[in-house]
Amino acid sequence: MIYISPSILAADFANLESEVKRVERAGASMLHLDVMDGVFVPNISFGPSVIAALRRCTDLFFDVHLMIVDPIRYIQDFVRAGADIITLHYESCDNPAKVISIIKAADVRASVSISPGTPYEAVLPLLDRLDMVLVMTVEPGFGGQKLIPSTLEKVRQLRRYANSRNLKLDIEVDGGITLDNIGLATRAGANVIVSGSTIFGASRPSAVISKMFEIAEKNPFAG
Ligand code: DX5
Ligand code: ZN
Repeated sequence: MIYISPSILAADFANLESEVKRVERAGASMLHLDVMDGVFVPNISFGPSVIAALRRCTDLFFDVHLMIVDPIRYIQDFVRAGADIITLHYESCDNPAKVISIIKAADVRASVSISPGTPYEAVLPLLDRLDMVLVMTVEPGFGGQKLIPSTLEKVRQLRRYANSRNLKLDIEVDGGITLDNIGLATRAGANVIVSGSTIFGASRPSAVISKMFEIAEKNPFAG
């Protein structure tokens, strides 16, 4: 199943409620919330209080992407804020397995992200406890970058691995996804598609989201 997850990093921060409702009406499957601490990545975005405020405006599934060091310190805050899935970065801590356990104990879905320089093999020992793997298709930190094509090879390897073991795994791609390359991502095996600037920058986000679903359905995993 394909899910489209618009990233509010590209939204108008002065009007977040109406921006969220705009993509909800436009057919978004979930909402991608990029949390950046200025340490793990060279940019600062927002934290749990903004997510908690948005939680009161929408029932959309909250896909929270933590780009912060020491995520273990903040998991309970993001759980309380209303996260439905929490993604931590493999590179951000020494103990991803422990952080995953804390997320799961709170009855929230768990996911791990790998930056472009991290091999896909890093997450293999964690897979049986994960609901999703996020393969970054740009260096984390900023919206509006260009997709790095070699990252899609990691998506392909992960999908092959998961299929060969009958693991039901969502694979998310994040960064630089456009109407021109979404088909490459789904053919590589991605099924959760993050898109910031392509969706929020459009005059009619609903047309972009429908087109994204259409292209994705026409380009299933190519093996
Ligand atoms: C980058 C973020 C992305 C970003 C995607 O570090 O994780 O979610 O918002 O934005 P676009 O689609 O504009 O590349
Ligand atoms: Zn993200």
